[in-house]
Amino acid sequence: MINSKRILVTSALPYANGPLHIGHLAGAYLSADIYVRFQRMMDKDIAFICGSDENGAAITIKAIKEKTTPKEIVDRYHEEFKEAFKGIGISFDFYHRTSDPLHHETSQEFFRNLHAQGKFQEKTSEQYYDSEAKQFLADRYIKGTCPKCNHDSAYGDQCENCGSALSPTDLINPLSTLTGATPELKETTHWFLPLNEDEEWLKDWIIKGKLDGADHHDPNQWKNHVVGQCKSWLDGGLHPRAMTRDLDWGVDVPQEIEGSEGKKLYVWMDAPIGYISATKAWAAENGKDWKDYWQNEDTALLHFIGKDNIVFHCIIFPSILKAHGDYILPTNVPANQFMNLEGDKISTSRNWAIWVNDYLKELPGKEDELRYFMIKAMPEQKDSEFTWSGYQEAINNELVNNLANYVNRVVVLTNKYYEGVIPDFDENQEIFGPVGEDEFAFHDSEMLRLYDDLAEVADAIRAYEFRAAMNKLMEISTKGNQILQFNEPWKTIKEDEEKVKTVMNLSLQYVAGLACAIRPFMPTASDNMCKLLNIPTVTEKGEFVAMMDKLAMGESLFESGHKISTAAHLFSRIEDELVSEQKAKLQKSAPVAAVETSNPIKENIIFDDFVKIDFRTAKIVEAEKVPKADKLLKLKLDLGFEQRTVVSGIAEHYKPEEVIGREVTLVANLAPRKIRGVESQGMVLMAENAEGKLSFVAPDKGWENGMVVR
Ligand code: MF3
Ligand code: ZN
Repeated sequence: MINSKRILVTSALPYANGPLHIGHLAGAYLSADIYVRFQRMMDKDIAFICGSDENGAAITIKAIKEKTTPKEIVDRYHEEFKEAFKGIGISFDFYHRTSDPLHHETSQEFFRNLHAQGKFQEKTSEQYYDSEAKQFLADRYIKGTCPKCNHDSAYGDQCENCGSALSPTDLINPLSTLTGATPELKETTHWFLPLNEDEEWLKDWIIKGKLDGADHHDPNQWKNHVVGQCKSWLDGGLHPRAMTRDLDWGVDVPQEIEGSEGKKLYVWMDAPIGYISATKAWAAENGKDWKDYWQNEDTALLHFIGKDNIVFHCIIFPSILKAHGDYILPTNVPANQFMNLEGDKISTSRNWAIWVNDYLKELPGKEDELRYFMIKAMPEQKDSEFTWSGYQEAINNELVNNLANYVNRVVVLTNKYYEGVIPDFDENQEIFGPVGEDEFAFHDSEMLRLYDDLAEVADAIRAYEFRAAMNKLMEISTKGNQILQFNEPWKTIKEDEEKVKTVMNLSLQYVAGLACAIRPFMPTASDNMCKLLNIPTVTEKGEFVAMMDKLAMGESLFESGHKISTAAHLFSRIEDELVSEQKAKLQKSAPVAAVETSNPIKENIIFDDFVKIDFRTAKIVEAEKVPKADKLLKLKLDLGFEQRTVVSGIAEHYKPEEVIGREVTLVANLAPRKIRGVESQGMVLMAENAEGKLSFVAPDKGWENGMVVR
């Protein structure tokens, strides 16, 4: 629980080098959005800041690939991001960009400050240089074989296959991605931040929640996986890290500093400072003082990120802030883990993703459905998975059958019995509560139950447990449904009108409570529910507090005599066709991925193992079906010096007459074995594609038989 006067929430600045996908949403944006909307409804002074990360090699590489300029790339994706965030309802107070002059100034001020304080070590070291392109290569410009897992296209800073952090000189056979040339080592000078000197205070701060001897935050509120990752970095020992790069795109090292020519700030130095620049831009437009949000101890700073950014937000950026002085450090870094998609890692390069803008176009009006399922499957503590059938099931069973159905019943019955006017009720009227028909309840006791349940929702949000919070909300809807179910107003209306009034009034209070509390998770559904109830939509200005104050006093959320609207459907079913269309789209756009994942490359063998296999060219001279075996053909192969019988599983692909005369490759020293009573003396090589089609692996036409293949 945060007691500070103000909260500043940041979401990781997305690299403006590719479109936004659901993995991004699941990592840094949806969780932050829920948290911020809720705190606004708690009447907190809170700002929600983000922007596009437009510097560094990630951008220039994309520009080279697309044969365009970095500027064109960042402009394009900056616009796309804004559209995607707006469409899916991420309610930033300010969305900035790191190509903005204000950001260049802000990050240069940091560099200048640290430099003047003597916080940097200037070091000359050898780095890879591409003499064809005449430039030093940023880590991302170098590819090579990973020393840990042998993956053949690991980057200079990280292997995407095994996740190891690397430096360029770790790579086996490094190649420049600019020219394909083998880079050479050449001396260059950079400014390093001696992170090794920060180990002690970082340990105290992250592990014990202590800063300069005083309590800073409750360390138990940090997620285990976040603290765990930090611990392993700290245990491994920190090393000085270069804060500059030899690049031609990004924030210049301030000119007046000697040796600044051609040097840019390391993107991981400037990007988090982007949070500060964005806050400045927001404050200027909104009559606020940015310093209140960055330099006042009564502010809680929260960084929402994905797990690949933990070290930068928990170790490097705090070290920069502390070195500068005057700045507060984050109160929490509630990182999420990764969301996978249909059994595989989300990957931009392999096009294995659900792109937010595509979703918005293809499933218009279903923003809340995506939010709902993403929250349900949010990778809060461990990696999770998005599947289209999981999405369908959650929407149909929970949003349609539970929530929408409940709200609809309450609105329909209110219109039917009372022409839409909320009935007055008798406080002493006994009704059945949600627990069962043997438990009696009263209107006000049920209102207190609603209070308790909503307090649990609020606590879960404050603890960054958004899945639990939303589950709790759905339980409230279930309870509401049960109150209707056990009291059966449609039957009782004839014999006990007073009881029905109490039940219906209570049900309407439940719907009003849900309409408000659901806002942080599904803002559009909240608006629609308010419209059904004919009450003002939630503007996120203290509504949660106001609601809880009323409920705590046993007061109704709205009064009898108020007239609601007529029913409309909140959510509609997701049909099977949509699920199969979307799955097919995914497979089609990422054909390579399908093959790769179904047939990963086998473990390495040594050359001596390979030469044990005797491959020979051969020609099929006879072929016939094997009786009672649909898949098998019995082949006679001519090797020139002898003939062999081989049983081959190709009968579903080739007719016997089609294969006679074909030249093939034979594994000639495979131990003979009996297949369906026939001794098979070897194996014919076949290639198989993703659909299971077969092709002969054959020598050139007219090649001699019995020749060695190697
Ligand atoms: N652009 C980075 C990424 O997408 C995140 C930058 S977060 C910031 O992984 F703190 F540096 F802004
Ligand atoms: Zn690797």
